Amino acid sequence: MEKLTGPKKIKTAVFISGKGSNLNNLIKFSKTKKSPIIIDLVISNRKAFGLKYADKYKINKRIINFKNTKIAENKCLLILKKRNIQFICLAGFMRIFSNNFIKNFKKRIINIHPSYLPKYKGLNTSVRALKNKEKFSGCTVHYVTAKLDSGNIILQKKVKITKNETETSLDKKIIKEEHKLYPAAILKILN
Ligand code: GRF
Repeated sequence: MEKLTGPKKIKTAVFISGKGSNLNNLIKFSKTKKSPIIIDLVISNRKAFGLKYADKYKINKRIINFKNTKIAENKCLLILKKRNIQFICLAGFMRIFSNNFIKNFKKRIINIHPSYLPKYKGLNTSVRALKNKEKFSGCTVHYVTAKLDSGNIILQKKVKITKNETETSLDKKIIKEEHKLYPAAILKILN
């Protein structure tokens, strides 16, 4: 007999390059009743530590070499289409997609960034915020465009920078907020 699975969830791919704490968090979220997504695929551009979460939860994983962006994007598109992926979450993925790739997922590809955008696009966000003696930093979930960390903002959260704050302590506070913000942003746009 066919198992009753409730309303169909949106097949989602997560792209990573690093630790994968957001991936782990999204997988856990995807298993809750309220989640509109199911994670079907994890793609990394290298042998990232975070791939272990794909193994742990028996999710399909692929490593795609991004030395040549066009070839890599075409490989990804083939896999994504074959698996009928409808939604993409970037979670610490260190490559920029071209318009040609993004147009296949209009309003269906989002990213999380560790700053209160539009401030501090790019890398080393906490170091730069501390250097500039900012009062707060934060995190942002936004739609992905071909321009780095520049798409429309979906949700963002401020994080206070306290006296004696270090890069490590600030990063820790921000990632904690990221783990709440990413699921909230998904619920906001997909519900
Ligand atoms: C996060 O800070 C995210 O905002 C940024 O890269 C980091 C990824 O961390 N894009 P993790 O791999 O999810 O732990």
